[in-house]
Amino acid sequence: MPEVAYVNGVYGPIGEATVSIEDRGFQFGDGVYEVVFSYGGKMFLLDAHLQRLQRSLTDIGISYDFDAAPLGPIIEEGLVRSGFSDAMIYLQVTRGVAPRQHAIPRSITPTVVMTFKAMPIFPEEMRESGVKVMSTRDGRWAKCYIKAITLLPNVLAKSEARRRGCYEAVFVTETGEVRECTSSNIYIVRDGRVTTPPRTQSVLHGITQSFLFACAASVGCELKEEVFNFETLRAADEVFVSSTAVEVLGVTTLDGEPIGDGKVGPVTRRMYEAFRRGVRG
Ligand code: PDD
Repeated sequence: MPEVAYVNGVYGPIGEATVSIEDRGFQFGDGVYEVVFSYGGKMFLLDAHLQRLQRSLTDIGISYDFDAAPLGPIIEEGLVRSGFSDAMIYLQVTRGVAPRQHAIPRSITPTVVMTFKAMPIFPEEMRESGVKVMSTRDGRWAKCYIKAITLLPNVLAKSEARRRGCYEAVFVTETGEVRECTSSNIYIVRDGRVTTPPRTQSVLHGITQSFLFACAASVGCELKEEVFNFETLRAADEVFVSSTAVEVLGVTTLDGEPIGDGKVGPVTRRMYEAFRRGVRG
């Protein structure tokens, strides 16, 4: 099956797709993105992803005319061309191409890039046994709710985590507040109640997270937004993370210390089941 790319109206093999070196996405990280999965040939929560994309674009002042060139049909066509039914779609919109200068040029056309690949297979044993995470200082900018392509702090923290044998790094502020992980949202379970940090401007408002808010009750779980600090995270009965890529994934070790009994807990399993049921529709 071919991995397909889309660049400004043209589909083709990924290896042949190119953008200008004067694209502001390349030079300044001036752009936003989404990662969407398709299960069994059906895009999962596509409207929610496109709404978040629209908000990200609006909030950094990139004008993309969604009515003139709706992205939904472009994505659907790319999916069909790739032939993948379980697929990972990466969608990026940058401000566009212009001679390099920091100030945003007056007239500039956004660059739209997509890739269509097979959905990465998540190792079942990792889901069963849970993953290790490490903590790291949150040194990111104040607008992490914008899904910007400027991800250097995330990239460096995730790489440090991998060097230390961890799957993820969790961002904690100077004052000890827990925010989210490098590419996933985080949750704690205490006395059967599930809490996730408030969806302020400091964290990405996960689409998987929104979905879990909508379906937690169906598996008898109560999910709330609440500020919690590192000590509370460390003392939690269970910890899990969520994203488009990992769905719902149990965390069993934090900075080398076990969470609860060091196993994936029952509430995490129920939340995962809620998610899977949602996928099955
Ligand atoms: N990342 N927080 C951060 C910082 C993220 O990068 C992501 C997703 C999430 C979860 O969002 P969602 O449920 O909408 O996928 C939370 C994607 C998967 C990525 O960067 O590849």
